[in-house]
Amino acid sequence: MFPYKTSLKFNKSIKEPLYLQLANQFILLIREGKIIPGTKLVGSRTLADLLKVHRKTIVACYEELLLQGWVESVPKKGTFVNKKLPIIQKITLTNATKAFKRQNSGFSFYENNHLLKKITEKRNGFMYVNDGTSDTRLTPTEEIARIYRKIASKKNIYTFLDYNSTHGNIKLREVLAMYLNNSRGLKITKENILITRGSQMGMWLSSQLLLKENDIIVVGETNYSSADITFQYQKAQIKRVSVDENGLVIDQLEKFCKKQSIKAVYITSHHHHPTTVTLSAERRIHLLNLAQKYNFAIIEDDYDYDFNYNHAPILPLASHNISGNVIYIGSVCKTVAPVFRVGYLVASENFVNEAAKLRGYIDRQGDALLELTFAEFIKSGDLDRHIRKLMKIYLQRRDLFCKLLKEELSDYFQFNVPKGGMAVWLRLNKQYSWTQVSEEAIKHKLVIGEWQRYDLANKKHNGIRIGFASYTKEEIIQFIERLTATCKSIKKAL
Ligand SMILES: Cc1ncc(COP(=O)(O)O)c(C=O)c1O
Repeated sequence: MFPYKTSLKFNKSIKEPLYLQLANQFILLIREGKIIPGTKLVGSRTLADLLKVHRKTIVACYEELLLQGWVESVPKKGTFVNKKLPIIQKITLTNATKAFKRQNSGFSFYENNHLLKKITEKRNGFMYVNDGTSDTRLTPTEEIARIYRKIASKKNIYTFLDYNSTHGNIKLREVLAMYLNNSRGLKITKENILITRGSQMGMWLSSQLLLKENDIIVVGETNYSSADITFQYQKAQIKRVSVDENGLVIDQLEKFCKKQSIKAVYITSHHHHPTTVTLSAERRIHLLNLAQKYNFAIIEDDYDYDFNYNHAPILPLASHNISGNVIYIGSVCKTVAPVFRVGYLVASENFVNEAAKLRGYIDRQGDALLELTFAEFIKSGDLDRHIRKLMKIYLQRRDLFCKLLKEELSDYFQFNVPKGGMAVWLRLNKQYSWTQVSEEAIKHKLVIGEWQRYDLANKKHNGIRIGFASYTKEEIIQFIERLTATCKSIKKAL
């Protein structure tokens, strides 16, 4: 006989009725193939004796199993496990544990080789090169938490907890419209704003709405790799124009437009990603005129507008968006912290409405409480105060980082001191390669990361971006020491 006594356990102290506890265990035994279809179950009286429960409990359990279709009752013969149950694979203990560690799905799905990002776990004691992120230790978490708590404890807050507009919280849209108009010379209303979960979402939505297979989008010959990948995912054709010390070469773009129709230009006009240069005033006007003449969209990704060390910030292309050709994208993820997924897409009202519809299918809506928190954080002037504080710190870090680079590493690298942003564009002398550097660097507890992503166009410029803003003075010194030790080892081995 099946070992019912040892296989069926129940707990009299929990609320779940005994008959249900037993029924659920029977179901598990059947699903695991331990009691197979067609098996006759022991009579209710015998099982009640074995388990020391009232017979009514067993009868109720069998009835439950009958109702759910796990067993069938054959008059005058007894209760049998339903023969028509689909064949269940027997799971032995060893392959049950394997099943939980399963790495490969039991079905096929569309993998995409364009998607580059590797997921790496950070190791203690190692320094990781980033391409210009903020120092999260400087995040005003207490201030943000205070505002969040205040908002969340308001009496009428429940209305914000419901399903709401896919455009994002209306208060934040109003505050942002005012903020962007005052600080960046935009001329917009809340209807021109879609709140996103960061710049990347703005880019993704724009790409979905603008591009279909083989449509042309123009980018710099060096470009932000995630932007390239986002457009390639749409199977768009990426065409590249040169980038010099004044940004994208717009004359080349014009020649291109004369020959072929393009759908969009993606640009990081303020600080070109990755080389950090600023698009000159003359090229800005030229680009805007071309967009109007040839009816293409300009996706302006203003990812680090706030950090300018040598001059006042240059107004974005979006501030001259008379013809409605600019889609302006930004977020607080660089200025406050990447974890706060609050960004914006600014464009003509019809584009914003379409993007808002589409957004609802990847992310039903934003986080209204967080958005209200940021509305308050911006309106109260806290964001501007935070930026002013960061500016001073990042300026000192930039100066120290560049000074040490120059003093210790000019035999190996060339670079210009960036006028803004949080990273340096560093070109390795061509007698060395980043493969050598990254392999050697690991020995010195320095992880260079995905340096290949800076040359998706295969221009062999030998440059990568290295962020300085996230390191303290001591960390910068340590970073330069490790990089210097790396380079010296390579030189010695050559
Ligand atoms: C040029 C550029 N655009 C967009 C993003 C994405 O920013 P967010 O975190 O706001 O999605 C980044 C992030 O590193 C970036 O460097």
